[in-house]
Amino acid sequence: MLFKQQVWLRQKLLVLGSLAVGSLLYLVARVGSLDRLQPICPIEGRFGGASSQAELPLRALQFKRGLLHEFRKGNTSKEQVRLHDLVQQLPKAIIIGVRKGGTRALLEMLNLHPAVVKASQEIHFFDNDENYAKGIEWYRKKMPFSYPQQITIEKSPAYFITEEVPERIYKMNSSIKLLIIVREPTTRAISDYTQVLEGKERKNKTYYKFEKLAIDPNTCEVNTKYKAVRTSIYTKHLERWLKYFPIEQFHIVDGDRLITEPLPELQLVEKFLNLPPRISQYNLYFNATRGFYCLRFNIIFNKCLAGSKGRIHPEVDPSVITKLRKFFHPFNQKFYQITGRTLNWP
Ligand code: A3P
Repeated sequence: MLFKQQVWLRQKLLVLGSLAVGSLLYLVARVGSLDRLQPICPIEGRFGGASSQAELPLRALQFKRGLLHEFRKGNTSKEQVRLHDLVQQLPKAIIIGVRKGGTRALLEMLNLHPAVVKASQEIHFFDNDENYAKGIEWYRKKMPFSYPQQITIEKSPAYFITEEVPERIYKMNSSIKLLIIVREPTTRAISDYTQVLEGKERKNKTYYKFEKLAIDPNTCEVNTKYKAVRTSIYTKHLERWLKYFPIEQFHIVDGDRLITEPLPELQLVEKFLNLPPRISQYNLYFNATRGFYCLRFNIIFNKCLAGSKGRIHPEVDPSVITKLRKFFHPFNQKFYQITGRTLNWP
């Protein structure tokens, strides 16, 4: 009898002991991760507009961010909005392009920052006449709920190449910060083609080979009418934007480096946005199965981008690649010169 009681007691102690050790380990990991993510720090003077609430520490923003997530899942009631001081703010920064440059990865990675809130969908307000006609309040209502100290960022890559957009954005906010993520132009064009090709295949449609679209069969020269080629002439599009915004309002993100080494690129963006550096290596881990960096928000929540990001490109005739690279070369030189960012593309 005594022996049975001793065994029972030992088992009980063992269970309690493991629970205590488990909880301790969990707390250590959690506190560690929180400290890496958001040491207490006031957000000061970001984008002007100082208010008493601008002193809110980032740790609190991170905590509140959890609440925001809950709100997004359910229906945010008016009461909740009022109680938590939630607002739908116009973006303070926009990722204007470039399509297939890594715009989604950039937005999601910036969203790791406790002071950033992303608009999940591409809103296409400035490039779509019908949407634009609905007015700025319609646009604002498309924004996620956030705390006044946070900044909202949206991405719509079509903005970069659409004629009317710079003037329209300027009219909304002439001091807005503009992010452009670029990749080596030929690779970007092939990525663009791959996306369209996949769409056609999904609809059981046939499509031309890349070589046929990118090279004019009559002249054997690069086909500048092909949209995937035109989009990659970054300097031409940027020059249109520069009629409205000074170059200081743009930040160029190296999309090729964001794939292989995202942290330094994100740190440059934090600086450009005047945000305290909060995204760390802890937030980014390489997933060998995906072949890309994925996002870690905390010990519980992490995610990789959808499978539509990081497609396998079709093989392209090397002579066509050489031709395209030669074609883009002078435009790239001009782009480096204007932006002050040299990317060493071939
Ligand atoms: P590919 O599909 O050509 O590889 P966008 O979001 O502007 O459409 O850009 C898509 C590109 O983002 C992908 O192009 C992919 O290479 C790149 N990318 C950058 N970082 C990524 C990441 N962490 N996960 C998946 N794709 C990423």
